[in-house]
Amino acid sequence: MKNEQWLTDDHHAVNRKIQEVLDFIENGYMDTDKFSDIESGLKKHIFFEETVLFPSLDKGDLRTHQLMEGLKMEHAALWKLMEIINKEIEEEKFIKTEKSLSEMLLILKTHNENEERNIYNKIEENSKVDTFNIENMQLPSDFICEKLRNRYIKK
Ligand SMILES: [Fe+2]
Ligand SMILES: [Fe+2]
Repeated sequence: MKNEQWLTDDHHAVNRKIQEVLDFIENGYMDTDKFSDIESGLKKHIFFEETVLFPSLDKGDLRTHQLMEGLKMEHAALWKLMEIINKEIEEEKFIKTEKSLSEMLLILKTHNENEERNIYNKIEENSKVDTFNIENMQLPSDFICEKLRNRYIKK
């Protein structure tokens, strides 16, 4: 139950923080510190899912495999939205930030439900994943989510 709970709580925490940034924007301010906190948290969450959780549970069942492929595409969509926001923070021009945050929330609503119902419920039976210390995991600075990895062109 340990990591099923940890990951579910993390879903709620990220959503709450995104909503807080949106409320701040409503008042005319961009909370860049909170956004970078969301970004590092969400990227670490995705890193754990793609490098530890999914490979451990992807064991020959086609439905589970396809579900994970879809979840990884959604990670890529979230990743791209965070890039848009980061670019606007860098340029101090906030045109797409509010819409991008709203889109993140929209994706996360079904994404998280899907994970919690179909993936996280299998964590407990895999003791290696269940006892993994996510909190202490370090996000490598060059990590890019799987579905964007080979498309990245640095200019
Ligand atoms: Fe995910
Ligand atoms: Fe998740």
